Amino acid sequence: MGSFRGVLVAIILAILFVVSAAAGRQGGIWDGKIVMPTATDEDQGSESAAGVRWAVLIAGSNDYGNYRHQADVCHAYQILKKGGLKDENIIVFMYDDIAYNSENPYPGTIINNPLGSDVYHGVPKDYTGKNVTVNNFFAAILGDKSAIKGGSGKVVNSGPNDHIFIYYTDHGGPGVLGMPNFPYLYAVDFVETLKKKYAAGTYKEMVIYIEACESGSIFEGLLPEGLDIYATTASNAEESSWGTYCPGMYPPPPQEFETCLGDLYSVAWMEDVEIQNLKVETLEDQYIIVKTRTSMNYTYWTGSHVMQYGDTNKVIEEMERYLGYDPANENVTEPVLPRVNLADTLMAGKELAVNQRDADLVHLWHKYNNAAVGSTRKSKAGEELVNTMAHRIHLDNSVELIGNLLFGSEAGPSKLNAIRPAGQVLVDDWDCLKGMVRTFESSCGRLTQYGMKHMRAFANLCNAGVDATKMASAAQQACSGRGSGLWSPISAGYSA
Ligand SMILES: *[C@@H]1O[C@H](CO)[C@@H](O)[C@H](O)[C@H]1NC(C)=O
Ligand SMILES: *[C@@H]1O[C@H](CO)[C@@H](O)[C@H](O)[C@H]1NC(C)=O
Ligand SMILES: *[C@@H]1O[C@H](CO)[C@@H](O)[C@H](O)[C@H]1NC(C)=O
Repeated sequence: MGSFRGVLVAIILAILFVVSAAAGRQGGIWDGKIVMPTATDEDQGSESAAGVRWAVLIAGSNDYGNYRHQADVCHAYQILKKGGLKDENIIVFMYDDIAYNSENPYPGTIINNPLGSDVYHGVPKDYTGKNVTVNNFFAAILGDKSAIKGGSGKVVNSGPNDHIFIYYTDHGGPGVLGMPNFPYLYAVDFVETLKKKYAAGTYKEMVIYIEACESGSIFEGLLPEGLDIYATTASNAEESSWGTYCPGMYPPPPQEFETCLGDLYSVAWMEDVEIQNLKVETLEDQYIIVKTRTSMNYTYWTGSHVMQYGDTNKVIEEMERYLGYDPANENVTEPVLPRVNLADTLMAGKELAVNQRDADLVHLWHKYNNAAVGSTRKSKAGEELVNTMAHRIHLDNSVELIGNLLFGSEAGPSKLNAIRPAGQVLVDDWDCLKGMVRTFESSCGRLTQYGMKHMRAFANLCNAGVDATKMASAAQQACSGRGSGLWSPISAGYSA
């Protein structure tokens, strides 16, 4: 079989065929099948000279096709437990629809590596399902119990000597991180929350790791130095991050799995921690190791640029300060060198990773491909695949059309796609950006996890000073006609 890209091209061609056939029919083919979230101690190790160690772990997605994000978060929990952090100091946000999902070949368990053991056991269910919200995430960081709605009520009740580790994994887009319940998380609100936490004087130092597409844009030009925060992101501000351990790739998950098990940057940092002595390994050591693996030894063949932000002078610190210490690695005397799959992968002739946005297509494709000919499962998976692609085409076309309406078809695409130089913030007026997204959604339907890729276009409308009413009429024009009969936000249940 050809590469995944080859398969994608085939799918797109098939869809264009179906779409053009459907255009002649009444009703069209989009029927809302992409259901986006409607709604998400005995060890003394956490107390030491480092104060209390706290952690907030959050998976921003739901759905079996996004198995990997919750797998990452569960794995991170196991690592922190081994490091001696207490459950009362680890706050977990995850939708919790994976372990007992009907698609899971091993019900009640989650793995994050093809050879890995269960990482689901023992994970605190602080905020699950509809309680996984931006509001609760920020309130938990701030230790503001009164602002929490639902969930366990556990918050980072930290003091001035404490250390905090925040880890987020999911889809994202320029300036935004996904959440399983609307609204999404905007970079500016996240950084404001961090500034408030700093002003409250309730931590000594903080480390933040973020896996998402365009995750660099969360901090680029926004996170100042001097907040005692050091952050790394899976990708720079303008590229995808990558899922890994996917079916058909190298190394593949066990055969029963039709979904990716992990994300490249995430498994890079976690599988590194598991073999290091964190009293010896520094933040910089880990950064280099993770960067090397996530970039496939700097080839970027598949993979992304791991970035550093904030108080990068902290990189000389030992990891132990944040993640604790697992005595099992006491005899590791210096950081173990990066493990890079490049050679193996080249030998296997397979891809190592898939960009976040195509990972759900990999899932649907394998589901479709593995199902018995003529089965309901096969026809449903095929339908889902076609609907997913149709919805993507709808979003891409709508945004492009809006650009053409506002700037003319000559200038439209380049104005929408313009990228500001590194170091500059995505947008000057974040309220304008939020307004642009709302306006788009009210005419064209929810952006969804795929549509977050278009955030830069909306940011550029703001940066170009496009008037809100002009945007509203362009969006209406672009999406109300729907001459193809392809898509309707009403029938899809997306009317905002
Ligand atoms: C949300 O939190 C409330 C209050 O703790 C709880 O009763 C409810 O079961 C939670 N919902 C989900 C979906 O976890
Ligand atoms: C990574 O690249 C360096 C420098 O180009 C090379 O020396 C090294 O052998 C490579 N490592 C792997 C595992 O391919
Ligand atoms: C580390 O080495 C010492 C001395 O050889 C040994 O006693 C100890 O069991 C080792 N620790 C681990 C976790 O292997």
